[in-house]
Amino acid sequence: MSIDPEVWSRLRDRAREMCSKAYAPYSGFPVGAAALVDDGRVVAGCNVENAAYGVVLCAECGLVSELVAGGGGRLVAFTCVAADGEPLMPCGRCRQLLWEHGGPELIVETPEGLLPMSQLLPQAFGPAHLARGEMRIESEHD
Ligand code: THU
Repeated sequence: MSIDPEVWSRLRDRAREMCSKAYAPYSGFPVGAAALVDDGRVVAGCNVENAAYGVVLCAECGLVSELVAGGGGRLVAFTCVAADGEPLMPCGRCRQLLWEHGGPELIVETPEGLLPMSQLLPQAFGPAHLARGEMRIESEHD
């Protein structure tokens, strides 16, 4: 799916707005994220840190929460930005989060340009792999 440059500009603006709302007193590294959903919605999020440092919620967590709470859907175009307003590579954990809700075709804006999730998370673990585990659990009850 080809995404209009105007859409990317709108997503970046929203991500920058979200970045200004971030709660990042510990790292001093605010992040904002925004994405287009296949039904035309735009969902967004910012990072929310915690005094217990390991409990940090990346911007992608808020975005995915808004997606699901708003009825679900598939992410088709995603961007996240740091305080300089420029695209930021999503962290490994968040690539996994994005994979679940966008799959291999989700287009991500990165510092290297627009790339599909299939390149950002090759050989990804996904929902389909769980079927194997379910079979094992069933046999354990035999
Ligand atoms: N962060 C995000 O929000 N998303 C990412 O994909 C990368 C990292 C946040 C987490 C933490 O609050 C701060 O950036 C520094 O790691």
